[in-house]
Amino acid sequence: MAATTRAPVLAGNWKMYKTMAETVVYLNEFKILTQYAEGCEIVIAPPFPALAAAAEAVQGSKIRIAAQNLHWEKEGAFTGEVSAPMLRAAGCSDVIIGHSERRQYFGETDETVNRRVRAALEGGLRPIVCVGETLAEREAGQTTDVLLRQIDRALASLTPESASPIIVAYEPVWAIGTGRTATPEIAEEAHQTLRDRVRKNLGAETAEHLRILYGGSVKPANIQGLMACPNIDGGLVGGASLEPALMAAIIHYQS
Ligand code: 13P
Repeated sequence: MAATTRAPVLAGNWKMYKTMAETVVYLNEFKILTQYAEGCEIVIAPPFPALAAAAEAVQGSKIRIAAQNLHWEKEGAFTGEVSAPMLRAAGCSDVIIGHSERRQYFGETDETVNRRVRAALEGGLRPIVCVGETLAEREAGQTTDVLLRQIDRALASLTPESASPIIVAYEPVWAIGTGRTATPEIAEEAHQTLRDRVRKNLGAETAEHLRILYGGSVKPANIQGLMACPNIDGGLVGGASLEPALMAAIIHYQS
């Protein structure tokens, strides 16, 4: 396993936090805090109304801007929705898809996740595809089945070429916002399951290059243990990403 060839990705999912003005203040500070961060990729996902200002604020830095969702059509009568070309025009390079909060509260299904993934790729956006089991599923011994179903359906009909930009995020629902991080052993087992499945479906090369991020109560205190695992290639950080110093400390986990 050539884990060293996978550049770590540290991504912040702000969820429904921060106005446009707060976003610019944050990024101006965060840019300075992370200006010497090397060997990793940095992504920040603010809410829609702050995306264009965020993209402008990070110009000249290595920070990439992600949206938190997109619709699969390019345009149309879809009140409240935002398309891939619109996100590209706002300066986004990445987009989070299938977050468990969208599955739980907004009717996201494996099928709509797949449509969004394909639309993102066609539109030149890098999908960050979220999968993860609930507490009830874990306690019922269904974790592997749930992960395999979610990854199979999210990446259905893709080829090794079309899938190559994709990043996957394993986010056990019971670890999100709870302070209850998965142990590195639990996370590593899930990441290994996901990578093995991608190897089976899309081949060894795609699987070896695929970055699989862990998400769920990632903090400066636990990122190092997670990143030491061979199949954990980064973090998708919620709460701790709202504070520039905490997110910068997570990015500098090696120092
Ligand atoms: P927390 O880091 O707040 O647990 O959130 C994780 C998450 O949902 C990132 O997408």
